[in-house]
Amino acid sequence: MAVPFVEDWDLVQTLGEGAYGEVQLAVNRRTEEAVAVKIVDMKRATDCPENIKKEICINKMLNHTNIVKFYGHRREGNIQYLFLEYCRGGELFDRIEPDVGMPEQDAQKFFHQLIAGVEYLHSIGITHRDIKPENLLLDDRDQLKISDFGLATVFRHNARERLLNKMCGTLPYVAPELIKRKDFHAEPVDVWSCGIVLTAMLAGELPWDQPNETCQEYCDWKETKHYLTPWKKIESTPLALLCKILTESPSARMTIPDIKKDRWLTKAFKKGVKRTRMSSGGASESSGIFSKHIRSDMDLSQKSSAYSDEKMAYSSTQPEPRTALSSWDSNPSHIDKLVQGISFSQPACPENMLLSSQLLGTPGSSQNPWQRLVKRMTRFFTKVDAESSYSNLKDACEKMGYAWKKGCANQMTISTTDRRNNKLIFKVNLVEMDERILLDFRLSKGDGLEFKRHFLKIKKKLDNIVASQKVSLPAT
Ligand code: ADE
Repeated sequence: MAVPFVEDWDLVQTLGEGAYGEVQLAVNRRTEEAVAVKIVDMKRATDCPENIKKEICINKMLNHTNIVKFYGHRREGNIQYLFLEYCRGGELFDRIEPDVGMPEQDAQKFFHQLIAGVEYLHSIGITHRDIKPENLLLDDRDQLKISDFGLATVFRHNARERLLNKMCGTLPYVAPELIKRKDFHAEPVDVWSCGIVLTAMLAGELPWDQPNETCQEYCDWKETKHYLTPWKKIESTPLALLCKILTESPSARMTIPDIKKDRWLTKAFKKGVKRTRMSSGGASESSGIFSKHIRSDMDLSQKSSAYSDEKMAYSSTQPEPRTALSSWDSNPSHIDKLVQGISFSQPACPENMLLSSQLLGTPGSSQNPWQRLVKRMTRFFTKVDAESSYSNLKDACEKMGYAWKKGCANQMTISTTDRRNNKLIFKVNLVEMDERILLDFRLSKGDGLEFKRHFLKIKKKLDNIVASQKVSLPAT
């Protein structure tokens, strides 16, 4: 896809990809403000124009601290651009170490914020329908933001609820009634997926492929075999909460008001004491980030004040007031201009920009914009040059039985199947930074946790060329 940039704004990096198109990071050349731009090619699918209209319409209704902010949208021919809050903390799944999870108090904090966001959505009659760690982003203060309203819909309007019947979402996260029943209530389905996210945060794995009788793990769960994995890794208090959330009958399932009162969710963890669940090489790289955010603001009722005026909607030219801590607060007009559109031009291949000298070493700063803006775990610097990094990666892929192909510029696409036999495709960008080579892995298709597992396996295989962490990760 041709990637344009608005005057003064460079599209510097792909943040995500999907069937719809892609999400790019746009950085203002002068101020270095950052926004995420979702680029949707409406020619891709016949129902796309309708879907994107719905996504825009729903985004305009939203205003909550735990939801990615929507600044507006523009249309250029068949391409729709959605301008969104850039979440520089990356995806929640990057904080989950495969098969381990994350410290319980971090999981509690993120779950608390997830429930606050979902409660808000339900209060305005919106259901997300695809809650999973890949759609949960973190800002620079590690605040969780629910993202991607591409599957969201209205389930309540003028106080009248409508039952849903469309199967959508991601199988390991969907509720059993969605697979089984004709009509179902929207809210318990989102609650169920929050329970699966909590399981992933506490155990680093998903409990089943899908919640029905064809799946042994799901049958074991219904028979309360808590001595099996992943349940045996989870403490009794959060496990008790999961039992009430992952209840098959949607009418017996725990509701959000009850979740907010739960013993584990309201438990105060001792400040400064963190029982680490991390092993080496994974999400533990982010321990520095976590340790700065030990908080005990567990009063969920306080949260509601942040969205007292929940019906407020914003048009594309009226971005909502930004919170005092946003980096672009001081001058929102740059983002307004971006949304309104000044001028477009078409650089050839955006990946080439990764190595362009204009972006490396921004005048007046010791770091380039990405080093300051991007905080992700699925990457590492190497000790060798670009050519050798590439050939080592290629050899590792061949030895490990991955299919690989060379992509645009310095990119490699790797495909495999995960342990559930689902397709997994990810891309590796080789980026030159400060005369070193960064291997930046990005999921294109498949499950986020599985992607992380494969990333760690490849990283281990390339151990001899991986630069030591202390000097390698850019300070963000
Ligand atoms: N990936 C997809 N959307 C994003 C956003 N708003 N911020 C950061 N990364 C993203």
